[in-house]
Amino acid sequence: AEAYNIEPSTDGDSSHVSEEYANVNWDGLGFGLTPTDYMYIMNCSKGQKFSQGTLTRFGKTEMNPSSGILNYGQGLIEGLKAYRTRNERILLFRPEENAMRMQMGAERMCMSSPTIEQFVNAVKQIVHSNRRWVPPPGKGTMYIRPLLMGNGPDLGVAPASEYTFVTYASPVGNYHKVLGALNLVVEEKFRRATPGGTGGVKAITNYAIIYKPISEAKAKGFTDVLFLDAVTGKYVEEASTSNIFVVKENVISTPPTNGTILPGITRKSIIEIARVLGYQVEERAILVEELFDAEEVFCTGTAVVVNPVNSITYQDKRTEYKRGVGTVGQKLYEILTGIQSGCIEDEMGWTVEL
Ligand code: COI
Repeated sequence: AEAYNIEPSTDGDSSHVSEEYANVNWDGLGFGLTPTDYMYIMNCSKGQKFSQGTLTRFGKTEMNPSSGILNYGQGLIEGLKAYRTRNERILLFRPEENAMRMQMGAERMCMSSPTIEQFVNAVKQIVHSNRRWVPPPGKGTMYIRPLLMGNGPDLGVAPASEYTFVTYASPVGNYHKVLGALNLVVEEKFRRATPGGTGGVKAITNYAIIYKPISEAKAKGFTDVLFLDAVTGKYVEEASTSNIFVVKENVISTPPTNGTILPGITRKSIIEIARVLGYQVEERAILVEELFDAEEVFCTGTAVVVNPVNSITYQDKRTEYKRGVGTVGQKLYEILTGIQSGCIEDEMGWTVEL
């Protein structure tokens, strides 16, 4: 194992973290914050590079009231997970991909960003120092949230004068309470992203805007919404926090990431696994009408993993899909989670051991 560069911090030293498990009701985890021991913080000024970060006790972070993130939404998130294997190893899944996506987002949002190495190092430190919070195998995963923010004494509408990179983690269970029973409704009024906008990067501003359509859908008994393209309203884009895949006659299709769709790392991994298994995978525009004669539909994301869709409703027409044993989605789910949890040999070289 490599040496961790855990710097002394003002009020904590993670080398004393016990090897045992934290006191958590592992069977009761959902997708919400269970505060852990440490967070990682790194600062830099505009035009400078991030240098040394520090691990500190998990708690509140300092924000300037005039900061870019608070006033104008100059912020990016990432999301990845740590998995505990059956023999107590801890694995990360493709963390460099998240690092690269943050860099792409930072370019779009005019922000300074950590290097790939700094990002991955921060993730490793946060998992290592909080390792007693990584759920036992089969009980959940540790969700890691890197956050990049414009943070400085700035009122002007311009890139912030200072940047803060924070990473924290929380044990999580399933994102959707009822697994495998996603009932989606096609959203006809609200749009998630426009061409030329920020739908293709993980800008924080992509998220609060979906609360209204989701809450309206939930009030009608649906689990989540499926967004359409903003220009024609004819093509399927993504669900609120996941990419979508459609299966018909053993061909797997998913909309292309052309700037309005988040380039999911789970999405990319599922495409690669499906191709290795010999499926034909098409990245192409999918008409909303095609949902009516699909055999299977599933959603992918770090938080949702691979989640089968039970039904989709569009203009009061409801279609149901195959799910569970024997489906393409189930097969892909098992292989992906098998690799992530160390149960299946990682021939792709995707996992990074802590
Ligand atoms: C993910 O990490 O899968 C996400 O889509 C982030 C979301 C939970 C806000």
